[in-house]
Amino acid sequence: MAFDYESLIKDLPDYPEPGVVFKDITPLLGDAEGFRAVVRDIAGHFADRGVTKVVGAEARGFLIGAPVAYELGVGFVPARKPGKLPRATRSEDYTLEYGTNTLEMHLDAIEPGDRVLLVDDLAATGGTAVAQARLVEAAGAEMVGMGFLMELAFLKPREVIARETDVEVYALV
Ligand code: PRP
Ligand code: ADE
Repeated sequence: MAFDYESLIKDLPDYPEPGVVFKDITPLLGDAEGFRAVVRDIAGHFADRGVTKVVGAEARGFLIGAPVAYELGVGFVPARKPGKLPRATRSEDYTLEYGTNTLEMHLDAIEPGDRVLLVDDLAATGGTAVAQARLVEAAGAEMVGMGFLMELAFLKPREVIARETDVEVYALV
């Protein structure tokens, strides 16, 4: 039977600003069975796609992306917020439900020929995912899929992502 992820995701109305319902995944991360189910479900879904790298965005993308990479037996590439990576980077600006930001990736983190899986906890506007897709494309690599724990369908992230790339978007909730 599929794990009941939703029972361990808490809704916080008006956080971090009025009108936003924040999805708090910390109870799910803190549940051994739930955390393992998330990682195994996303990794299992993309297991036969020849993934060579998993990309995840700071910070929550690290929490799920890194164990998915471990489960798939491939490397993990962090997309970080500005000024955190020590060597030469590419950067992309993006908007999200509650503001704007920039993500950076090391120039040599991904190479032409890599087959990249993007993993994050949540797709809301899709802006964070699109920024990472652009960084992967700029590195000359191929995006082969996007795996999310959760998708806020009412914000239509799939439509935004589809304007950028035709890869499969897989979400558990
Ligand atoms: C959250 C979440 C996703 C992103 C989704 O990250 O972890 O990365 O927002 O929103 P979008 O689809 O509208 O782009 P956030 O930028 O809040 O940073 P955090 O992981 O450090 O909390
Ligand atoms: N990132 C963007 N929108 C979010 C939301 N509503 N809850 C949690 N994380 C988010």
